[in-house]
Amino acid sequence: MRAIQIPRLDGPDVAELVDIDEPAADGVVIDVHAAGVAFPDALQTRGLYQYKAPLPYVPGAEIAGVVRSAPAGSALSAGDRVAGLTMLTGGMAEVVALPEDRVFALPDNVSFEAGAGVLFNDLTVHCALRTRGRLAGGETVLVHGAAGGIGTSTLRLAPAFGAARTIAVVSSADKGDIARAAGASDVVLADGFKDAVKDLTGGRGVDIVLDPVGGDRFTDSLRSLAPGGRLLVVGFTGGEIPTVKVNRLLLNNVDVVGVGWGAWSGTHPGYLAQQWAELAPLLASGAVAAPEPIVYPLERAGEAIASLENRTATGKVVLKVR
Ligand SMILES: NC(=O)c1ccc[n+]([C@@H]2O[C@H](COP(=O)([O-])OP(=O)(O)OC[C@H]3O[C@@H](n4cnc5c(N)ncnc54)[C@H](OP(=O)(O)O)[C@@H]3O)[C@@H](O)[C@H]2O)c1
Repeated sequence: MRAIQIPRLDGPDVAELVDIDEPAADGVVIDVHAAGVAFPDALQTRGLYQYKAPLPYVPGAEIAGVVRSAPAGSALSAGDRVAGLTMLTGGMAEVVALPEDRVFALPDNVSFEAGAGVLFNDLTVHCALRTRGRLAGGETVLVHGAAGGIGTSTLRLAPAFGAARTIAVVSSADKGDIARAAGASDVVLADGFKDAVKDLTGGRGVDIVLDPVGGDRFTDSLRSLAPGGRLLVVGFTGGEIPTVKVNRLLLNNVDVVGVGWGAWSGTHPGYLAQQWAELAPLLASGAVAAPEPIVYPLERAGEAIASLENRTATGKVVLKVR
């Protein structure tokens, strides 16, 4: 089969298209039509991710395609349209074999390209807003990196989970347009966002900050929370892992909440199925729009992964595999 391989840890540019054997037919075998690109794919090409895959490895955490075969007794059968999670590696290939609990029926109105971009971010954001962040009806959600994968997912999902308002924080006007298209109620620039948020909320602040960026904006994020607010720590695309002076939590009655979706799903059997059971009907009914990814051909995987690293990606990035 055709697949993308990372032969050494020198960044996304070393990604190469190779012919390798198909995986052993263990579990649900899927003919992959599209594969999602996520920030950990970029980190892994430099050995900067917590999980280190043995070299050479096939990158890619999520796919969409058609079931070729499923084990006897499975709820899935050949021909089913599905999305699936490899979780960290193996997705950028023509064929994957996955355990059944990581394969989900794709609503008919969701294309393979959109489907390959839906699981990783939407289930993380679901975990962040619903499970860890305790989003309540009528609350305001601010999201950093709002034109990115996690950012656009937050803007699509938060209203369906009850948020009355979303505030998108971006680094440029162009990225503001992407955030607005994903549903942002308001857009502010990262530079000086604290004062802009104060103005927008009449001085009250927001109930939730969903932060995939970290770095030096962390303290201003804490200062932007309303009493009882929660800052959801999702990632560190900005590079620096911030520290927090806990007196700020006490003074303003705010929480800093860790969101590790992979670890949560790994320690809560049935959680992924439960998440998909909430999300799939929203996608099927159109209550939540499917992502509209930027699509690259498989052979340009290196460029696609690099677009996350060099900050040029707008929205979700996906590879068309067949
Ligand atoms: N906790 C979890 O369970 C979980 C699950 C999935 C992903 N994540 C993490 O979430 C983060 C975001 O992933 P993503 O797929 O949304 O990434 P993405 O599509 O690349 O978006 C990240 C955004 O971060 C902002 N950014 C700020 N400084 C940056 C820098 N130095 N380099 C690159 N981007 C920078 C950019 O927005 P501006 O240019 O507008 O600032 C960019 O749009 C990653 O750290 C990922 O590992 C965590």
